[in-house]
Amino acid sequence: MQKTGLSLHLAGLVFLLAMQGAHAANNCSAEQAQQGNTLFDTDCSVCHSAKKGVEGMMGPNLFGVVGRTSGTLQGFSYSKAMKDRARPWNNDSIQAFIAQPQADVPGTYMPYMGMDSAEGRAAVACYLSLQK
Ligand code: HEC
Repeated sequence: MQKTGLSLHLAGLVFLLAMQGAHAANNCSAEQAQQGNTLFDTDCSVCHSAKKGVEGMMGPNLFGVVGRTSGTLQGFSYSKAMKDRARPWNNDSIQAFIAQPQADVPGTYMPYMGMDSAEGRAAVACYLSLQK
C-alpha cells in the first residue's frame, strides 16, 4: 500500500518537474495562471485590480504591469523608491518584489509582508503576465 502511494507521489513530482521545464521555456500554463488568479484574489486584490481601467484603489492598477516601467502608471501617487526603481517589470522581478517588497524596493509604500511560497510567487507572476 505504502509503496504504491510513494511511487504515485514520485510520478507526480516528475510530472511537476517536467512542467517546470516547460514553463521556463514557454511562459506558463493555464493551470499555473489559475492558481495565480486565486492567489491574487486572496493576497493582492484588496489593494490592486488587474482589470483595465479600474482606479481608486490603494495600489496601482496591474493591468499590463509586465513590461511597464515601475512607478509610471498615470495618475497614481507612487513612493520615490518605486519611481527611482525605473525599470520595466518582468516575470522574475515581480516574483522578487512580492517575496519581500521592502527588501527588494527599500522605501516602497506597498504594505505587504511577502509571499513565502516560490511556487505561489511564480503563479502570481504568470497570472499577471496574462493581464494585458
Ligand atoms: C495593502 C495593499 C497592498 C497589497 C496587499 C499589495 N499591494 Fe502591490 N502595491 C501597493 C501599493 C501602495 C503600491 C505602490 C508602491 C509604491 O509606490 O512604492 C504597490 C505596488 C505594486 C507593484 C508595482 C506597480 C507599478 O506600477 O510599478 C506591483 C508589481 C505590485 N504592487 C504587485 C502586488 C502583488 C502581486 C500583490 C499580491 C501578492 C500585491 N502587490 C499586494 C499596495 C498593495
